[in-house]
Amino acid sequence: MKVLATGAGGFVVGAFMRQLLRRHPDCTVMGIDLPAAGGSTSHAAPRLTKHADVTDRGQVSEIMAAFRPDVVVHGAAMTLVAGDEYSAGERFLETNVRGALNVAIAACESGTVHKFVHLSTGSVYGQQDPPILDPISSVTKPRDYYGITKLSGELIAQRTCELKGVPFIALRLSNVFGGDERPNPLRLRASLPTQAAWAKWQGRRPRVAESTLRAASDWINSSDVGDAIVAACLTESSGAQTFNVASGQVISVAELCRMIDLDVRVVASETALDDRAGDLVGGGMNAANYDITATTQALGWEPPAFADQIHDLVAWCEATKPTTKSDR
Ligand SMILES: NC(=O)c1ccc[n+]([C@@H]2O[C@H](COP(=O)([O-])OP(=O)(O)OC[C@H]3O[C@@H](n4cnc5c(N)ncnc54)[C@H](O)[C@@H]3O)[C@@H](O)[C@H]2O)c1
Repeated sequence: MKVLATGAGGFVVGAFMRQLLRRHPDCTVMGIDLPAAGGSTSHAAPRLTKHADVTDRGQVSEIMAAFRPDVVVHGAAMTLVAGDEYSAGERFLETNVRGALNVAIAACESGTVHKFVHLSTGSVYGQQDPPILDPISSVTKPRDYYGITKLSGELIAQRTCELKGVPFIALRLSNVFGGDERPNPLRLRASLPTQAAWAKWQGRRPRVAESTLRAASDWINSSDVGDAIVAACLTESSGAQTFNVASGQVISVAELCRMIDLDVRVVASETALDDRAGDLVGGGMNAANYDITATTQALGWEPPAFADQIHDLVAWCEATKPTTKSDR
């Protein structure tokens, strides 16, 4: 099988490619990303790498036509921005919507692609009441430019594939963490479990806001997300389907710190904290329950118990023992 993956220099697609090659070493993988992807295409270890901008349809089509993939995994995205969201609207739109359209058109016109896997996000749901997230029954109410453009990108890629009869699977991921997670020029902050694990193994006692400690989320390990994406690539499917990829379990930050055995300094909720200075800073935590029943049934994928996922993160830290900020 030949797989083309966009966003290959990033955290999640890097984890996917590693899992794919670990489980199916006979696959050929082409990873594409921007030249400025922090040099991280090397840690993802794809078989082949090309620098390309998904906002440039010509570049994407040219690579697709030359490589002739069977499956496309589209993960390239703009996730967080430095500075204010307002001024980044154009970049969100171009990357997350036009980029998705370009990759979907290039896949549909390749004549070789028989599966399009689109990496989407739980942010497309926004705040729900009751907070149960289901791709079929939940309405989508994304709150910010990221969620809005990710939903638009998901829908436009889905429609493009439907029009050309290419089987489409969207995977809406909850909050992903993992030992190999690193801030990059576009995604500035690591997830809270990863920050906590770094703090533990650097022997630090980080500050955390009272409100953050009470917050809760569904987190999932990157290697398990990688396995879910592998399953989506390999599962026979037709038409368009959308699945949640999550642990299906809501964990508070306080509980997470207990599991990692991390001692923290609790400060008032209004204290200004900075993860670059070693504080624990959360984001995107909405205590939502992701329904993963359909995912496990259709893809035959099941996340390990959350305690095992955390054990995996801690084992990674023990093996690499990051000691300074530059080691991240
Ligand atoms: N990390 C999470 O918790 C999480 C949660 C939900 C969904 N997702 C989705 O997973 C995917 C990967 O996210 P991630 O966390 O690994 O982010 P990341 O920032 O680590 O990776 C995204 C990659 O896309 C690349 N990219 C951005 N613009 C591009 C362009 N114009 N052309 C080519 N490449 C471009 C970046 O250089 C980067 O390497 C995204 O689609 C994201 O929406 C991630």
